[in-house]
Amino acid sequence: MNREQLINKAKDMREQAYVPYSKFPVGAALLAEDGTVYTGCNIENAAYPVTCCAERVAIFKAISEGQHRFKELAVVADTKRPVPPCGSCRQVMSEFFDAHVKIHTANLQGDTKSLSMEELLPFSFASSDLPEQKK
Ligand code: THU
Repeated sequence: MNREQLINKAKDMREQAYVPYSKFPVGAALLAEDGTVYTGCNIENAAYPVTCCAERVAIFKAISEGQHRFKELAVVADTKRPVPPCGSCRQVMSEFFDAHVKIHTANLQGDTKSLSMEELLPFSFASSDLPEQKK
């Protein structure tokens, strides 16, 4: 699975998005180290803050299947620039992704921007910042 294939999977996932409120479908595809791909789309709710972004759906699917080792994540939306993941998703990514995991952001025009986890969320709060007994 190369970068373009992962981005295309993310793009296809926009069709599954449940977005009656924003009408803004987002798709994500997460490649695990063993080659398995976990996909996600945004899922909204009438109680707006309950909405879950595409990236988190893909990550939570993977974690719930016992997968913890990741290589790359792609995210696609119909934006002018490659879609920047929200702050909550960056924090969730940082919980599970090593500093070198690549995040490929893209739009429908084919513009892409790839960043490492470290570049996407520098100086992030981590379990190592918690007191020893709370880790
Ligand atoms: N959204 C995502 O799914 N991922 C992002 O990276 C940005 C925002 C969703 C949340 C909501 O359903 C819609 O896009 C508008 O904010």
